[in-house]
Amino acid sequence: MYRQLIERYKQKPLSENALKILKERYFFKKPSGEFVENSWFDVCRRVARVVAAAELINNPRLEKMTAAEKLDFVRQVESDFFDLLASRIFLPNSPTLFNAGIGADYELLYKPLEQMKLEDYQKILDSRNHLHMLSACFVVPVEDSIEGIFNAVKEFALITKAGGGIGSNFSALRPKGSFVAGTHGKASGPVSFMHVFNTAVSIVEQGYRRRGALMGILNIDHPDIMEFIDAKKGNDGERVLKFFNISVGIPMDRLEILRMYENDEEIELKHPKWHHPTKVKVREIFKKMAQNAWETGDPGMVFLGEMNKYYALYPYREIISTNPCGEIGLSAYEACNLGSIDLAKLCDDKGVFDWESFAKVIRTAVRFLDNVIDVNVFPIDKITQAVKESRRLGLGIMGFADMLYKMEIPYNSEQARSLAKNLMAFMALHAHEESSRLGQEKGNFPLFEYSRYPNGFIPFSMDVSDYDDEIREHFNTIAKKYKRNVAVLAIAPTGSISNIADTSSGLEPNFLLAYVRYVNKLSTNEREPLFYVNEVLAKKLPENELLRIRDRLIEEGSLRNIDIDERLKKIFVVAHDIDPLDHLLMQEAFQSYVDNNISKTINVPNSATVDDVLEIYVEALKHKIRGLTVYRDGSLQTQVLTSAKDL
Ligand code: CDP
Repeated sequence: MYRQLIERYKQKPLSENALKILKERYFFKKPSGEFVENSWFDVCRRVARVVAAAELINNPRLEKMTAAEKLDFVRQVESDFFDLLASRIFLPNSPTLFNAGIGADYELLYKPLEQMKLEDYQKILDSRNHLHMLSACFVVPVEDSIEGIFNAVKEFALITKAGGGIGSNFSALRPKGSFVAGTHGKASGPVSFMHVFNTAVSIVEQGYRRRGALMGILNIDHPDIMEFIDAKKGNDGERVLKFFNISVGIPMDRLEILRMYENDEEIELKHPKWHHPTKVKVREIFKKMAQNAWETGDPGMVFLGEMNKYYALYPYREIISTNPCGEIGLSAYEACNLGSIDLAKLCDDKGVFDWESFAKVIRTAVRFLDNVIDVNVFPIDKITQAVKESRRLGLGIMGFADMLYKMEIPYNSEQARSLAKNLMAFMALHAHEESSRLGQEKGNFPLFEYSRYPNGFIPFSMDVSDYDDEIREHFNTIAKKYKRNVAVLAIAPTGSISNIADTSSGLEPNFLLAYVRYVNKLSTNEREPLFYVNEVLAKKLPENELLRIRDRLIEEGSLRNIDIDERLKKIFVVAHDIDPLDHLLMQEAFQSYVDNNISKTINVPNSATVDDVLEIYVEALKHKIRGLTVYRDGSLQTQVLTSAKDL
């Protein structure tokens, strides 16, 4: 089954969209601009080879092998990785695709597998330079001193240049107007400093392949919280803190904030350098958040308390911030590399899901992502150390919406949520079993003894699934002794890689059934439109029917107002056909079996009021989720996705 599946998707040609994106941003080029890579398989060969080479440095079993056995082993790993990538059933995050192999001799990266020698793999490892950075997610701490702040600015610049997205919690900074002893002056506060970070990142750009991405967090009890919530007011997507998503941090139990909200209580705003007693009603804070999110989509909320509750290294280490899209909470200087499995490809055209192959894909993907850690080069030593100590991974999914289309299950249904729980619980079980197996084979993450795993800790909030007993059993037995990675799972937005895989992104419903996607041509800075009609819909609809509705579909993006079979309308829902509560419930369903977090947007229609948005903010506190992003259609002028009528 697995082999057939791999072959089937290896042979499937890439769409024009996917090829365009690859050519524009992913294929290796010489400094002269001449392409070194011309096909998707070239990229897969390079990436699989570099990541397989990690076995030479992270696998103690190889020390006991003869040279011939070692070579066989590494080649086999490369071959397994290559097949998986070539089929596009699993893809690592963009920085891995961009940067794996940078610095190496081209001949070594692409020559046929059977000609590879052990020295060749070693040479590839030895040639890694400071741009060989393969992770998407970083968190940098910002200290309350000019030196600390500008040191962090430098770290932001270095990480951005290498292609990583960075999050920081600015709550350590003293509030605006507080005393600065050295100069007898007044502090300008966290928000003003965020502009410095934004400017630095705007100049650096991410390895010239995409614009940088930042997350700025301020905790709900910081004295500058109201100014912070307004920090992106007037944002048109270009002018104000362009590179930042901003989020209000909830470091305490989310239910405590809910209680304060419901009882109309005040929260005390505090900072060690702030000596004026200040209180503000939690309802005032939420009202402001809702108003601004209604206008511009910012701020979101991040439930840091909830993240630490399920963090195996807490309290020895503490999660202080998330990365820009929120799927990974990290402690100071930690980084994480991501990868995503396309569920739609594991489901055949009749809607039958291949669980056996899914298990094999999960296990190979965990090995792949764990190897990425050992071939990664970071621009800052403190990051190298933090990453090696905890070995955090973020394996997730994409293609969920397209899979549901194939199965003919509406996204906004109990059936879809229960399937989501089973899929994620199955994935949690196999991914964690593999991480424990790797712990046994290659060694535990160095801080294992300081973690909660030896005490039988389960890093999930859990719900009801078919795999609950096995999950409990795992954490109560083998996981007490072996664990290679502090956390293993996360669901990323997959904004680019889902396009390379020709599938729907992350756990999100499709945004539109037919659309135009703009891709920035960095060489000329022009925005180029790419047209697209959902492939599953195109297959399920008779050709003449598709032709009949095509223009309306491109115009509207949804079937909602089109004269067509009601059953199809229920199945082929898009983001804006789905009630915000159904979005939240899907986020919670997946989150129950994810140890890191989930990137999810709660879409609300353009016609929603500020009170509607407020209701979602309060509702979110009641669910076992780790954060909230609300987006009202049309509230930002520069959407990445847009329907044809906005052309
Ligand atoms: O699909 P791809 O691997 O390119 O990325 P994604 O899943 O859309 O985003 C994953 C993470 O990559 C984000 O949470 C950011 O940390 C980072 N990212 C970034 O640094 N710059 C961007 N322009 C987009 C994403």
